[in-house]
Amino acid sequence: MTSSLDYLVTGASGQLGALVLAGLRAAEPGARIGALVRRPETAEALEAQGFEVRLASYDDSAALQAALQGVGKLLLVSSSEVGKRAAQHGRVIEAAMAAGVGFVAYTSILRADSSPLTVLPPEHLETERALAASGLDHAVLRNGWYTENYVMSAAPALAHDALIGAAGEGRISSAARADYAAAAVAVLTGPQPASGTVYELAGDDSYTLSDFAAALSDLAGKPVPYVNMTEAAYAAALTGAGLPAPLAEMLADSDAGAAQGGLYSDDHTLSRLIGRPTTPWRDTLSAAL
Ligand SMILES: NC(=O)c1ccc[n+]([C@@H]2O[C@H](COP(=O)([O-])OP(=O)(O)OC[C@H]3O[C@@H](n4cnc5c(N)ncnc54)[C@H](OP(=O)(O)O)[C@@H]3O)[C@@H](O)[C@H]2O)c1
Repeated sequence: MTSSLDYLVTGASGQLGALVLAGLRAAEPGARIGALVRRPETAEALEAQGFEVRLASYDDSAALQAALQGVGKLLLVSSSEVGKRAAQHGRVIEAAMAAGVGFVAYTSILRADSSPLTVLPPEHLETERALAASGLDHAVLRNGWYTENYVMSAAPALAHDALIGAAGEGRISSAARADYAAAAVAVLTGPQPASGTVYELAGDDSYTLSDFAAALSDLAGKPVPYVNMTEAAYAAALTGAGLPAPLAEMLADSDAGAAQGGLYSDDHTLSRLIGRPTTPWRDTLSAAL
């Protein structure tokens, strides 16, 4: 018979999932915490840390239904398989309904219902609507941009003496992955929010890509100017550098959305939720360098 779990975190082999698991353990050392992964080879390290591993792919309804038995609170970390996600999340939600999961928190995207980004938000919105229709008690964590996304551009920018993008003068209120993980932990371990609560989460401070390039220049001790491109030219530059076309188009679309304010927020819900300021983007950049 399957044992019961206080918490189950999906995407547990991923970067956000790992941070949430560590945060849950620190917040509630005595809790029974489960980690859902799809690949058996990722189970051992999690089991060694004392997490109960449950195996299921988002593509396997039967395995999901077995894996979600006895779960009190579920964190559904959105899948990384863009284009397949709405169906995948739908299967998790159906399994959670069948298993009688007590509460579901889902990692969505900032302003999923009104974002100017066109590639990423629709699948998140579809998932939010499926949750609302499910009758499950739930909350939506609309995560803004990870600072780490732009930090990944630092190495190529240093190699080519220019940071390229298509975000224009759009301001970006990113936060560290660890900040979003802390928010998930706060929502899971705190008083259960009213079902359907939506948290719009973003960093306390914001920057343009010109600011980001200036900070990178300071840290590197050499000029790394920001070069703004059209969305199409930026996507072409990324595919030219070897990125798969769908990924390049998603990144270019996100930058174009950022140019229209899609990654900006000044409401500070994230820092209120985690009880501390979000990690300054310059700190995340300098730590990575
Ligand atoms: N806000 C942002 O800026 C931002 C940036 C990037 C991503 N995201 C979203 O946030 C999520 C978490 O971020 P992250 O940094 O932790 O991403 P990540 O490190 O790529 O982790 C993604 C996780 O999803 C799991 N996964 C993917 N497809 C699955 C499937 N079919 N069945 C079960 N599990 C599956 C992966 O499992 P495997 O290890 O087996 O692949 C992995 O554990 C991402 O998946 C994406 O939806 C947000």
